[in-house]
Amino acid sequence: MANEERQQPLRLGSIAPNFKAETTKGPIDFHEFIGDKWVVLFSHPEDYTPVCTTELGAFAKLEPEFTKRGVKLIGLSANTIDSHDGWIKDINEISGSNLNFPIIGDKERKVAYAYDMLDYQDTTNVDSKGIAFTIRSVFIIDPKKTIRLILSYPASTGRNTAEVLRVVDSLQTGDKHRITTPINWVPGDDVIVHPSVNNEQAKELFPDFKIVKPYLRFTPLPKEKTTAA
Ligand code: BEZ
Repeated sequence: MANEERQQPLRLGSIAPNFKAETTKGPIDFHEFIGDKWVVLFSHPEDYTPVCTTELGAFAKLEPEFTKRGVKLIGLSANTIDSHDGWIKDINEISGSNLNFPIIGDKERKVAYAYDMLDYQDTTNVDSKGIAFTIRSVFIIDPKKTIRLILSYPASTGRNTAEVLRVVDSLQTGDKHRITTPINWVPGDDVIVHPSVNNEQAKELFPDFKIVKPYLRFTPLPKEKTTAA
């Protein structure tokens, strides 16, 4: 394959490749689906498998929290839409959820190849022909269609939906204010003044900021300004 044809690896900052696909909610053009929202695109290995069933139920239950933040969920596996449709009934029954987000039917693995989601490690994570299924990938994509987070979990390990939501909160907060978020941060905790902000600017932006070391400055987030009615 000529160099220019070789697919570039997807990295943080890459534009999410566009694709057309069938989903449980009908056909989509991915960039149109993103529109002006954030998107969590996540793959699972296979329908009707135990860990995946718990994961999809958990994402379905947390969907209202993603929606509040302007985030759309979309799942994917190398199974058919008919298979997804049948399995969603089980997910809802088992988890007490009402799974509403689309799941892509990527039997041909077109999207899985484009997003490098295939399992190159677990020889049990294959279909009846021995062709690799997907790993548990997560992509957080912003409204400019830029990839902001990539996670890869093996088939054996279920993800943590609260962590995916926490990263959304961190990214959205960081985009709004000139801050970063420390280890184990959750909304409400103090944040870190971005290294590009000098102390003079920090005094203006974050009057209560504290200098622990010249390179480590904590601050509460400024209170949201409310407009008088
Ligand atoms: C699961 O979801 O339980 C699973 C799927 C594929 C391989 C291993 C585990």
